[in-house]
Amino acid sequence: MALVTIPLDQLREGQPTTAEQAHNWCARLESGDILFFPQSPIPFTPEELAFLRGQQQTGSSLHKNIAYKPNPKNPEQDKLSGVDTKTADSAAVQRLHAIMRGYSQHVVHFLTDFLAPYHAQWRLDYASFRPLEEQNRDLPRRRRNDLLHTDAFPTRPTHGARILRFFNNIHPTRTRDWVVGDPFGLTVHRFAPAQIAPHPAGAASRTGKSLGRALGLGKAIPSLKRTPYDDFMMRFHNFLKENEPYQDQTPRYPWQFPAGSSWMVYTDTVPHAVLAGQYALEQTFLVEPQALVQPEISPLRILEQIAGAPLI
Ligand code: SIN
Ligand code: FE
Repeated sequence: MALVTIPLDQLREGQPTTAEQAHNWCARLESGDILFFPQSPIPFTPEELAFLRGQQQTGSSLHKNIAYKPNPKNPEQDKLSGVDTKTADSAAVQRLHAIMRGYSQHVVHFLTDFLAPYHAQWRLDYASFRPLEEQNRDLPRRRRNDLLHTDAFPTRPTHGARILRFFNNIHPTRTRDWVVGDPFGLTVHRFAPAQIAPHPAGAASRTGKSLGRALGLGKAIPSLKRTPYDDFMMRFHNFLKENEPYQDQTPRYPWQFPAGSSWMVYTDTVPHAVLAGQYALEQTFLVEPQALVQPEISPLRILEQIAGAPLI
């Protein structure tokens, strides 16, 4: 696991990423490396940054847990959520919505070329704005992000697609402080005991139905069905956060991402935690298994080898 530093002048216009380079970036990500851009390739105006950083001080209700859902087919039908529209000022909500839309579009534009092998087969997922101080947040254990974990979505199974996240630290001066843990394969073999091991059969349809019911839907919806792969990834996320020997005894590698930087990582397999920092933006991509340049080292393959059966 390594941090691969990519200086901005390497990305300047006139030097498009070659097919070979793009393949290489995908391979580095799939191997568990973090791609780090000391100066973010994503542009912001000073006004946008001032607006985003102003959200905490104004006392408006904009600042809770802001998620943006792009709509690639119809950009006008995108959605901003997590904003309390009853108390927040509507001009501010609109401004935030426009900034999130621009952010998402810039990240997509940048990665379309930079990660060319993926772009035809990624699903554009949520973007988020994280304006709260991460140090000493008071959250239930499974929602704490200061404990090492791999990502899995409780209500949005990926069916084998990988969770790739692009981050921006937009704090004016402070670093965003992460620690990362040993790679997925090693961690699974060392820490996944029999009770959380991947099960090939049984869970998928039951989970799909109960999830459908929990959301007030009469019957299961295929896209909500959790495959055995999704079940494992969710159990593993919970297991790592709840496992004290894992939290206390495994190697922890600190990385501090400076103000103005970006980084990108497969958070479904690189164990990570955020210890401190404030004001980050993030865009998530779900990369389909068939787009991977090294499918043989994907978490799906690793788990199917352990289970001895297909998991999706
Ligand atoms: C996480 O995905 O666990 C949090 C990362 C961050 O907000 O820096
Ligand atoms: Fe996470």
